[in-house]
Amino acid sequence: MLRKAEPFKIKMVEPIKLISREERVRKLKEAGYNPFALRAEDIYIDLLTDSGTGAMSDRQWAAIMMGDESYAGSRSFYKLEEVVKRITGYKYILPVHQGRGAEQVIFPNIIKNKGDYVLNNMHFDTTKAHVEIAKGRAINLIDEKAFNTDKYDDFKGNFDLDKLERFIEEHGVEKIVGIVITVTCNSSGGEPVSMGNIKGVRRIANKYGIKVFFDSARYAENAYFIKQREEGYNNKTILEIAKEMFSYGDGMMMSCKKDGIVNIGGIIAIKDDQELYTNCQSSMVPLEGFPTYGGMAGRDMEALAVGLEEALNEEYLEYRIEQVKYLGDKLMDAGVPIQYPTGGHAVFVDCKKICPHIPYYQYPAQAVCNAVYLAGGIRAVEIGSLLLGRDPDTGTNIESPLELMRLTIPRRVYTNRHMDVVADAVIEVFNDRDKLIGLEFDYEPKVLRHFTARLKPIKI
Ligand code: F0G
Repeated sequence: MLRKAEPFKIKMVEPIKLISREERVRKLKEAGYNPFALRAEDIYIDLLTDSGTGAMSDRQWAAIMMGDESYAGSRSFYKLEEVVKRITGYKYILPVHQGRGAEQVIFPNIIKNKGDYVLNNMHFDTTKAHVEIAKGRAINLIDEKAFNTDKYDDFKGNFDLDKLERFIEEHGVEKIVGIVITVTCNSSGGEPVSMGNIKGVRRIANKYGIKVFFDSARYAENAYFIKQREEGYNNKTILEIAKEMFSYGDGMMMSCKKDGIVNIGGIIAIKDDQELYTNCQSSMVPLEGFPTYGGMAGRDMEALAVGLEEALNEEYLEYRIEQVKYLGDKLMDAGVPIQYPTGGHAVFVDCKKICPHIPYYQYPAQAVCNAVYLAGGIRAVEIGSLLLGRDPDTGTNIESPLELMRLTIPRRVYTNRHMDVVADAVIEVFNDRDKLIGLEFDYEPKVLRHFTARLKPIKI
């Protein structure tokens, strides 16, 4: 069969360069063994995140010129609103500056009392932080199969529906203010949630009268997996699948820096709850901005309106998901343990398996990330016990069920040749894994510590 290439050609380039190994050793030390603190120009291939790092299309750049920068009632807002309404079927649309902007507006409006629960398949870190800032409790109820990294499953982002119902019964429905479905489930590997599971969540929510929200940063990638893997969806368009999915929710938050293919932007959309909408509208003014711009420039809303459409294109999604799989396959062929199958936006390397000699409180995945930077100038990110932080009640270090290195692939930025280079570096580290050593803190921030922590290799 004829192989398919990236479904675009490159019109503008941004040079990158690999600094010497000696320089990388020095830079990493200066960065406190935390790749977040590296300067981007000291990185060869940057797989820190797929968030806001995508390449916009010529159509998006053209749309930028059409931005209406009116403070109130901008034409660009109405264009964006029309697109979001068409995709979600929801009535009320509010733009925000990015995903966490949506979180800081929504959660204080649904969490009424200290200790109220928000249930999620798996909270993203800022989502959990905003639940906790609003004095709520963030509970993850993902199906355990997500933690079995080497065992194939079509939908490793699914809720454990029994656990979900049991939690509601045990803690009392009056304490549960919402269920959030994160599609795809970033923290378990960018793994998809099936439509069947989404319907199951809706059924339980209806039974108890609980609201359902989507954390829809990567909803188009999720829809593509549903089309590929779930019976009854193969002949539907991605838009049809997305619309059906949103029909089972009461609202959504979206970081548009992912499946909006823009460098900044976010959305809150609410199905029909007018009270929630007006509450969000008034709280967003001091936090984000007037409700027709919410932290975005008119030109950003124009680019987003186009990007949301482009992300629903099936050829694009096929290329996107295949590129992630391409890197995953190369690593698996060399014996590197990864979350299998690969999800939508990243390859997650199972570092608990790579360095069983490093305990969770010495951050094995961070050790692997650092080694990959030294090997190839590649920046990856730790998704494990460093990120998870401490128990808010007891202050003890929490052990993450998974210690992952995320190789996150920006949209439309790197070619498969870049992926080959990434694979070479990771395989080199894997083959030398016995030499990896754990890390301890030089400085530990109180909140979201992984972003600004300074570490050092433990003395042995
Ligand atoms: N929800 C999910 C599922 C996310 O992955 C992110 C961000 C957010 C919410 C917050 O959105 O960054 O626009 O404020 N994820 C990025 C990442 C940062 O690297 O995975 P944001």
